[in-house]
Amino acid sequence: MLEDINTLGGMVETVKLPEPQQKIHDGKPFPLILSPTDQKTFTDLPSTIMWLEENRDKLKKILLKYGVIVFRDFPVKKAIDFDAFVKALDYQPFPYIGGAAPRTSVVGDVFTTNESPPDKLVDFHHEIAQSPKYPKNIFFFCEYPAKEGGQTSVAPSNLVYRKMLEREPEFVKDLEEKGVRYLRVLPDGDDNESAIGRGWQSTYLSKTREEAESKAKELGTTFEWMPDGSVKTITDIMPGVRINPNNGLKMWHNAIINAYRAYVDSRNVPEKSVYLSDGTYMKPEVMDILDETLCECASDMDWKSGDVMMIDNLQVLHARREFVPPRRVLAWLCV
Ligand code: FE2
Repeated sequence: MLEDINTLGGMVETVKLPEPQQKIHDGKPFPLILSPTDQKTFTDLPSTIMWLEENRDKLKKILLKYGVIVFRDFPVKKAIDFDAFVKALDYQPFPYIGGAAPRTSVVGDVFTTNESPPDKLVDFHHEIAQSPKYPKNIFFFCEYPAKEGGQTSVAPSNLVYRKMLEREPEFVKDLEEKGVRYLRVLPDGDDNESAIGRGWQSTYLSKTREEAESKAKELGTTFEWMPDGSVKTITDIMPGVRINPNNGLKMWHNAIINAYRAYVDSRNVPEKSVYLSDGTYMKPEVMDILDETLCECASDMDWKSGDVMMIDNLQVLHARREFVPPRRVLAWLCV
């Protein structure tokens, strides 16, 4: 039993899974998986909520140390239970402004995850890392897993940074000094055929062009309207690496690989969707190394119905594997 888990009153224990579902990084299991010690520990949702409320500060501390916690075999069955689960930890919802993926509100502050086609991989990213305002933590909940595949992969940002520094020191130096900009053309209204098809209205939670433009401006993003009603957006210079204020460690924190590989649809050319602030595009060979590094660091946990995954969005990147439908994994983003 890990020492931190003892602080939780003997109600939960850690679960070990074989690689690649769970790995050991810097001596710690990744992700950390917690389950009730026995069937009688949590009989229903109210008892779980009470335990979460009592232990919220300890759980938040544990999250800072491990980066990801998976709660398995707790009595969380529906989206509404999931909403109550997160709220018991006293989190506030993050307004989903600036993200690319089309999402639908489910109940309370629960949203669908990226609704892009199941046969497409969602590459590694931090949620909304392309914006200066990004969620601090994110939660996923598995209502039911895919028939096949559909893992949510997670990778520790500091480990990715360390490995990239070793493998591509020039690129990392450039990235740290210059930062990056992201370019994306948003459709007029949502385009559900595209993994990055959120229209400008839902991206900026706005009804009018003026409102969208003013919200984008607050984030440092510029707009250029196109004749067909779509809009070309270019972000402010965003950091590619951020420092974790809790431990001073450098985090690989950006949406580079996601933009470079996946900002593709009838409006967008992926290779031109992200560039260093001096205008230099990403080199394909460096992107291949980044891909390899991310996969090497990643844990690919198979979902089980009722799993709740709590992710520190600064310390951990996530991705979604291809899958055979149906699969329903929901999300909750925290300020
Ligand atoms: Fe995501």
